[in-house]
Amino acid sequence: MKVTLLIGGYVFDEVVQKGKMILDMYAKTILEADKRGHEIAVVAGGGKLARNYINLAKSLGASKSILDDVGILCTRVNAYLLISALGDRAYPYPPITYRDYVSAFLTGKIVVCGGMNPGQSTDAVAALISEYIGSDLMIKTTSTDGIYDKHPSEKGAKLIPRITYSQARRIIAEYSYDPGTYQLIDPIALKILERSNIPCRIVHGKDPKNILKAINGQDIGTLVCGELC
Ligand SMILES: Nc1ncnc2c1ncn2[C@@H]1O[C@H](COP(=O)(O)OP(=O)(O)OP(=O)(O)O)[C@@H](O)[C@H]1O
Ligand SMILES: [Mg+2]
Repeated sequence: MKVTLLIGGYVFDEVVQKGKMILDMYAKTILEADKRGHEIAVVAGGGKLARNYINLAKSLGASKSILDDVGILCTRVNAYLLISALGDRAYPYPPITYRDYVSAFLTGKIVVCGGMNPGQSTDAVAALISEYIGSDLMIKTTSTDGIYDKHPSEKGAKLIPRITYSQARRIIAEYSYDPGTYQLIDPIALKILERSNIPCRIVHGKDPKNILKAINGQDIGTLVCGELC
């Protein structure tokens, strides 16, 4: 199976707070999936590193596109951490254009990138890479168990096991579109996934085994897909 794996900022925040163990576990899981014959394309998210730098640059008067650029650079730093953990099987650096990503992917190495362009988050990057390489599935690991019917911090929020692209879009409709604040999943990503009918499973990032479960089609987290999936 061809899979695009978007590793949300949660994992990189854990590394900063608690040390390398979680990234070692992620590398092991990705290498396991690779050994089982799956083709894994990887995108690293920004997490607190990106948000902290974005906030600093904002306080210094940077424009929104520059804030996105700052966030993108932080995602590439995170990508380098995972590349280091993957060792020889990894492509040695994060490609910075889609064209370069596809060329790197065709070498058969495991390619990890961060963000690409201002105006969109790594959610959209992962969705576009999924289109470019023809992924069967996108997996996003994040800081919650999936998509809830309202913000998970609100009382009574319920996890939604399966949701259509348009229903997901309705949930995020009110959310901010400012650099570093695309919450949950960005609307560009949903549009790209929808136009190419690529399913996306959102799972918690605390346990990388969730990635193998998602690849095996287990019903964990939230599956975002079309009406007929
Ligand atoms: N309806 C919802 N269901 C689930 N999570 C939601 C919802 N609404 C808002 N969120 C928030 O979205 C957050 C996940 O998105 P966020 O952009 O913070 O993380 P990420 O995309 O995994 O990481 P990063 O953007 O740093 O790469 C969750 O922590 C949660 O608080
Ligand atoms: Mg995000």
